[in-house]
Amino acid sequence: MALDVDRIRNDFPILSTKSHGKPLAYLDSASTSQKPRAVIDAVKEYYETYNSNIHRGMYEISMKSTDAYVESKELAAKFINADSYRNIIYCRNTTDAINIAALSYAEPRINKGDHILVTDMEHHSNIVPWLMLAKRKGAILDHVKLRDNSFIDMDDFDKKLESKPKIVAFTNASNVLGTINDAKLMTKMAHDSGAVVMLDAAQSAPHGKVDVKEIDCDFLALSSHKMLGPSGIGVLYGKEELLEETTPAIVGSDMIRSVTFESADWNELPWKFESGTPNIEGAIGFGAAIKYLNSVGLDNIREHEMGLLKYAFNRLEEVNGMQIFGPGKGDIAKKEGLISFRIKGAHPHDVSTIFDAEGIAIRAGHHCAMPLVVGVLGFPAVSRMSFYLYNKQEEIDRVIDALATVKRVLKIKDE
Ligand SMILES: Cc1ncc(COP(=O)(O)O)c(C=O)c1O
Repeated sequence: MALDVDRIRNDFPILSTKSHGKPLAYLDSASTSQKPRAVIDAVKEYYETYNSNIHRGMYEISMKSTDAYVESKELAAKFINADSYRNIIYCRNTTDAINIAALSYAEPRINKGDHILVTDMEHHSNIVPWLMLAKRKGAILDHVKLRDNSFIDMDDFDKKLESKPKIVAFTNASNVLGTINDAKLMTKMAHDSGAVVMLDAAQSAPHGKVDVKEIDCDFLALSSHKMLGPSGIGVLYGKEELLEETTPAIVGSDMIRSVTFESADWNELPWKFESGTPNIEGAIGFGAAIKYLNSVGLDNIREHEMGLLKYAFNRLEEVNGMQIFGPGKGDIAKKEGLISFRIKGAHPHDVSTIFDAEGIAIRAGHHCAMPLVVGVLGFPAVSRMSFYLYNKQEEIDRVIDALATVKRVLKIKDE
């Protein structure tokens, strides 16, 4: 169903603001998304009417905040088709979730000489926790090559699995290339070689259905702030049997069942991984974000973003000197709604600055994926525009105009 984008935009107060006197064109949702009024109101309502700690209080407003916190987890579980809220550990974000899995689950299970496998398109968040673990343990961090600088090289993946990695960690969708990986197939291949799979869903969960049962990943990480929710709250999903057998690395407060000066044991799932007072308002806002996404429909969001992607590709063809990274126009079905690019003769930071003066927010840099951007693509930085449910074609038209301004200001001649 086609989205009523004007109606959706009305739900996002920030989208009617101006930047440098021009209507804000927000094209950086891959970095963080904007928040609908429903999310803002849910957090405000919590602060104004039932702010209290969860679990500990035997009084009305504490029971209400506990219920709201658990309801948020139930929504998150359903959103990724997990069995129950017991599989949902709330943490700060994707980075935190991967670190928790690395420190709690993987740390005691990785030994000297073991292999851990990632890919060349990972965000630093899905490299560095594994790199540090490998260094601590004398293990080996391998990485799968890319094909056409765009896709996972499945032959190389197959080959790297021959070393029987204990952990295979990969992204469901690249934040630079937009590439959507076949998570189900890769998980099956990793399982067949005996590995446990960590799936980074930071860029996929906001934009389409991610089904942990269908994919069969062992762990999954995502961030609320990229999917209309507040920042400071994210999900580590884990299969129940793996979470049960994992000893938490960060301990204290509500995650304890009983404690003496001689020993401690842990609360039941998922609480045993949540030490200290959690981000209650974040969880409540995240619950509201999930409800909002469900009400719009992920399939509709995906369809809308594919439309924008197609439109952007068509319009960018008019621009001389553009270099676009990742899957191209013919592979839109395998790409999230983002385009990373360079324009010949312009530094991406200058491009962003000129765009900013036009009220257009895009991102420039290595996008926390240095092995990909610097190592594979061979640039210190690229520009990236990314779309979400509230973006419209007119904003892409403004990008095309801003690219002409870039050329004029930087005196770039068309070839
Ligand atoms: C693919 C991917 N993984 C992980 C992250 C890290 O997310 P966070 O900063 O919310 O921890 C990002 C953020 O851009 C990302 O795009």
